[in-house]
Amino acid sequence: MHNAARFTPELKQRYDRALASAQAVLAGLPLRDCQLFELRLARHFPDLVEALAHVYGLHPRYEEVLQRLFQLMAGRYRRRPEDLKLLDIERDLAPDWFQREDMFGYVFYVERFAGTLPGVLEHLDYLDELGVNYVHLMNVLRPRAGENDGGYAIADYGDVDPELGSMSDFERVTGALRDRGISPCVDLVVNHCADDHDWALRARAGEQRYRDYFYIFEDRTEPDAFERTLPEIFPDFAPGNFTYQPDMDAWVWTTFRHYQWDLDWSNPDVFLEMLDALLFLANKGVEVFRLDAVAFLWKRVGTDSQNQPEVHDLLQALRACSRVAAPAVALKAEAIVSPADLVHYFGTGRHFGKVSNIAYHNSLMVQFWSSLASRDTRLMVHTLQAFPRTPASIAWATYLRCHDDIGWAVTDEDAQAVGLSGPAHRAFLSAYYTGEFPGSHARGTEFQANPRTGDRRVSGTFASLVGLEAAASLAEGEERELAVAFAVERILLGHALICGFGGIPLLYMGDELGMTNDHGYTEVPEHRDDSRWIHRPAMDWPKAERRSQAGTVEARIFEGVVDLVRTRRRTPQMHSAYAATILDLAHARLFGIAREHPLGPLVQLYNFSEEPQRLATDVLLGYGLVQPFDQITQAYVDVSSGELELPPYGRAWLI
Ligand code: GLC
Repeated sequence: MHNAARFTPELKQRYDRALASAQAVLAGLPLRDCQLFELRLARHFPDLVEALAHVYGLHPRYEEVLQRLFQLMAGRYRRRPEDLKLLDIERDLAPDWFQREDMFGYVFYVERFAGTLPGVLEHLDYLDELGVNYVHLMNVLRPRAGENDGGYAIADYGDVDPELGSMSDFERVTGALRDRGISPCVDLVVNHCADDHDWALRARAGEQRYRDYFYIFEDRTEPDAFERTLPEIFPDFAPGNFTYQPDMDAWVWTTFRHYQWDLDWSNPDVFLEMLDALLFLANKGVEVFRLDAVAFLWKRVGTDSQNQPEVHDLLQALRACSRVAAPAVALKAEAIVSPADLVHYFGTGRHFGKVSNIAYHNSLMVQFWSSLASRDTRLMVHTLQAFPRTPASIAWATYLRCHDDIGWAVTDEDAQAVGLSGPAHRAFLSAYYTGEFPGSHARGTEFQANPRTGDRRVSGTFASLVGLEAAASLAEGEERELAVAFAVERILLGHALICGFGGIPLLYMGDELGMTNDHGYTEVPEHRDDSRWIHRPAMDWPKAERRSQAGTVEARIFEGVVDLVRTRRRTPQMHSAYAATILDLAHARLFGIAREHPLGPLVQLYNFSEEPQRLATDVLLGYGLVQPFDQITQAYVDVSSGELELPPYGRAWLI
């Protein structure tokens, strides 16, 4: 009848067993629901078992694990609310929903945006006004008591942080967002849980089943062997990757903070637990899962224990399971790794197009800051041109900053290729964005300086990093006006770039108003040692009010951003399936992108300097743009002289 008819006899046997396990659970559901489950299972079964066999095939309990897996999927599907089942069908019909040119995301801590989950309901009109159709809600699950890394230490994946509300509040929020066509995204913190999660407490108490969920070592032999090749993520406040637990007289793997215990994914029970959490939250209305720190899921001695091949099998398996039991869901990989490693999160080789749907474009973000500081786009062009090809079915999450610091992920090889020294350029970027470099407009602060590697990451809000904070400290007058104007233009340049690059542009809360650093974070004891809190200020609603007063900084930025989003929506070339080609403009101040489309090409130009720049129109003619029309200004561009001019920090989307 369907896909299963093409299976080899061996696969067919397996499939029949899986189906039998699932059917026992589905019994009693309407026939059409059962049929849909079967069709989806048959469609994704080969991908699922191929991936699982690679990671767990030799596990003594493999067959039992498979049985439990299909029961679990069927059980969650059974309890999936009707409106979400309808959304599943909608997404089956429009699998490119997250790639569309109208995608636009907004990212916020619930507590910082609205205090509580019910509070979010009061600001839905604001989201509509911005044109948002995707929101990343941080961090809603019940975190560790006390310090919890901004909610990235989860004590219960099935419960909401009581400070924010209840699970039914959460469902009300996701339902209200869905009604407005806004897709909710939450973090699934997959690499570790809090040391007060029930699993950790039971491991601590000596229960073997739960000790097997973690990496627990009786002595330093293995930790020392691993440490030889492991980097340190938080060298400042969490040196090393293991934490001694006196009550257990053992060492526990803790890549991040001492209270974030890494989960051992080579244990299939961990896979089942996390899948269960994912499907549970999907049934509560989550549509996109940000898989936190996903690169770290598999450990291998002698390596940096990141991006191991097994991670991609695990992702392929998670994706296949969600496509059967909750097809409305998309997976977003938070893998802040080098470009060569990053493309694997979209699937390469046998995983092509089968792992995550969305991944953060960390490189684009870093290169934006690099070009902005040096007024030189050559490194950006070189790095982004060398990016490996990605499947047509994916979308980048493009962003300029997030709740984390900015690390200078520029390789020595890429720097050398354009005549720079890697270490010197990275040191320059740190100095520039902390404001130490003479003439810098930036007001960031350092994060996790590592004297051993020379690494100095930077914290700061977008507005503070592009000069708005520095401008505000100038005496009133022409100089200040000019500094403010440049800062506003830099903000709009950045947003034009992340909108134009393609994918889901993610705006961090407050950047649409030019919110500056929150220097008060040092007064909060749990935040004091983590400078990332400087760029996580609470929403300034009185400031937001000023967006409707013409001429204010808030209005200039807010309107500029909203206009870009609207413009993008009517530019079909922005759909993610049409890849961005990075142009070689042979012009150190300009950056260009072309997107080919059946309706005609789109050429984008960005000026990374505070001087007007001229460009010969040959490149446009090469794309057949004899009479270019700028989608942003809605006007024809004068190219009669054979050149076009871009104003300071100007941007153009030409069709
Ligand atoms: C991710 C989060 C970061 C957190 C870390 C550990 O990188 O974005 O905020 O500290 O994971 O969960």
